[in-house]
Amino acid sequence: MRLATDCWYPVLLSRELRRRPVGVERLGRRLVFWRSGDGTAHGFPDRCPHLGAALSGGMVRGDRLICPFHGIEFDAGGACRHIPALGRSGRIPVAMALDALILREAHGFLWLWWGAPRAQYPDLPYFTELEDGWRHATITVDWPVHHSRAIENQLDVAHLPFIHRTTIGAGGETLVEGPHVEADEIGIRIWITTAKDTGQRPREAAELAAAAAGTEPTVSFLFPGTWLLNIAPRFKNVIAFVPVNARHTRYYLRAYHRREPAFVGSLFAAATCLSNRLILSQDRRVVVMQTPADSADARADRPLATDRAIIEYRRLQARLLERVDSPEPVAN
Ligand code: FES
Ligand SMILES: [Fe+2]
Repeated sequence: MRLATDCWYPVLLSRELRRRPVGVERLGRRLVFWRSGDGTAHGFPDRCPHLGAALSGGMVRGDRLICPFHGIEFDAGGACRHIPALGRSGRIPVAMALDALILREAHGFLWLWWGAPRAQYPDLPYFTELEDGWRHATITVDWPVHHSRAIENQLDVAHLPFIHRTTIGAGGETLVEGPHVEADEIGIRIWITTAKDTGQRPREAAELAAAAAGTEPTVSFLFPGTWLLNIAPRFKNVIAFVPVNARHTRYYLRAYHRREPAFVGSLFAAATCLSNRLILSQDRRVVVMQTPADSADARADRPLATDRAIIEYRRLQARLLERVDSPEPVAN
């Protein structure tokens, strides 16, 4: 699948990673993730270089991942440490090695660097304001869609009174003012204002920009796939979009609350997960039917000025996709 490169992609929740191999499809590849004895996360392509067995069917012992087929052992860097059939004194062929994926673990997620190794990596695309004092709860939702369509759905302002008529779009505010959008190489920020259409003229761009100045955006998106909805100063929703393959996207949809005492925040977050699941399910039937699957191919689409956030997303995606097409996982 085509993917923007030189980016951090969220691939798993931290809590999904244990001291046993986890085999998953991510970014159109079969990958295996595991924790060594000290708790550090590691990952490889899920294929043993010996005879192609899936390493995810194997086991972890200390700092080694052991293939289920003939017991070959790999360390966390991907070096082969033992080949039982050759014996303790056997010579290990140089080619019997794995490319270790470049990973970080933070904010409750495991992140995969997709691109060439670097001396220094950019910051993880996450919302650092959600640190101290926040409690969260997460649901996982899988859709048979390309991640570009899933992301654009969350940048789409005009669908609310139609798709979400019975929930967050109640009130019939079909007129979209602006929206005021700011975009750069890192992400997109949207200030959303909608109104009932009484024939009035929507406010001009300059007026909307002035109103937005010094305020928090309604939606913040960080490339390649994290999104924040600013519902209230102490209440946010976040989605980490995980490209599984060209026709499958996983959503990690997380509700954040900051309340006193802290356990109340946890209760609010758990309750919000129920409504989040309902609201997201309302979009599904329309988004799964959008064509073409990848919005990068959607040259026949006719976006409107009110779709400015989507236009900005496509613009930056196009630039990132130009860099390299589908690189292989890279070694540390
Ligand atoms: S295929 Fe993995 S040890 Fe043989
Ligand atoms: Fe929606």
